[in-house]
Amino acid sequence: MKVIQAQRNVEIGLQKVVEKIQSLDKKEFASPKLYAASLHLLEKPGKLLRPALVFIGSMMLNLKEDFVDLATAVELFHVSSLIHDDIIDNSCTRRGTEAVHVKYGISQALLAGDALMANAIKLVAPYGNNIVSYLSGAAMAMCAGEALELESRTKTLKRYLQIAHLKTATLIGASLSVTAVYAKSRLAEKLNKIGTMAGIAFQIRDDVLDYLEGERDASHSNIIDVLYSKTKSVSQAVDEAVKINNANVSKAIMLSRSIPDCSSKALLNSYLESIRLPKELR
Ligand code: IPE
Ligand code: IPE
Ligand code: MG
Ligand code: MG
Repeated sequence: MKVIQAQRNVEIGLQKVVEKIQSLDKKEFASPKLYAASLHLLEKPGKLLRPALVFIGSMMLNLKEDFVDLATAVELFHVSSLIHDDIIDNSCTRRGTEAVHVKYGISQALLAGDALMANAIKLVAPYGNNIVSYLSGAAMAMCAGEALELESRTKTLKRYLQIAHLKTATLIGASLSVTAVYAKSRLAEKLNKIGTMAGIAFQIRDDVLDYLEGERDASHSNIIDVLYSKTKSVSQAVDEAVKINNANVSKAIMLSRSIPDCSSKALLNSYLESIRLPKELR
C-alpha cells in the first residue's frame, strides 16, 4: 500500500466518523436545544486529528476492524472538553464560530459537554472494559490538567509541560495506541509514547500560534508567557518554544524508528511533521 492509499483510508474513516456523529440518536437528547448545543461544534468538524490517529494506529497493526465507533468516541471526548474549556477560559469563539456557551448559555453548554461524554462512553462500551478504562483514564487526565492549569499561579516550564501532558497529550497518545491496546499488541506502549510526545508538541504549537496571532487568552498558561518570565524577550521565548516543540516532534519520530517501515508509519510521520513549528518563527 502506498502512503497516498493509507491517507485515503484515513479520509474514508473520517467521513464515516462525521456520519456517525450526525446520526447520534436525537430522541435521547429529548430537548431540541440540548441536541442543537451538543451538535453545534460538530457541525463544523475540526482537524479530526484524534480519530485520524485511531485509524493510523489500527493500520500500523494491520487490524481488520473498522474502529469507526472508537474513532468517533475519541472525537466526542475531545469536543466535550472543548465546550467546557471555552467556559473555563471565557473564550467566545471556537472553530471559527460562536463557542457553545455564547450561543446557548453556560447551563446548556455544560450539559452538552456531558451529553457528548455520555455518548462517547456508549460508543466505547462494546470494545470492552479494558478500553473503557483506558479512555476514561485519558478523559480523567484532561480534567486533571484543566484543574491544575486553573490552580497554577506559579508558571514554571515544568508545570506547563505537566499540564500540557495531562490536558492534551494523554488523549492524543491514547488515540494513537487504543487499537493496539484493544488488540493486545506489544506496540501499544510505544504508540502511546509517540502520541504523547506529539501531543505535547501540539499544545506548544497551538499556544505559540495563538500568541503570534494575538489570541492569547489570559486565563490559560501560554508557553510564551512561561518562557518570557525567564528570557525577558518575546523573540527569545518564541525561539525557545519552537525548540521544545521541535525536540518533542523529533523524539516522537525517533521512537517510531524501531517500528517496521510501512505506508501507515510513513503517514504517521507526516502527521508528526505537520506538528513541527517552522524554524522561521524563531
Ligand atoms: C484544540 O485542539 C485544543 C488543543 C488541544 C490545543 P484541536 O486543534 O485539535 O481542535 P480541533 O478539533 O481541530 O478544532
Ligand atoms: C485545550 O485547551 C482544551 C483541552 C485540552 C481540554 P486550551 O485552552 O489550551 O486550548 P484552546 O486554545 O482553547 O484551543
Ligand atoms: Mg484552556
Ligand atoms: Mg481554551
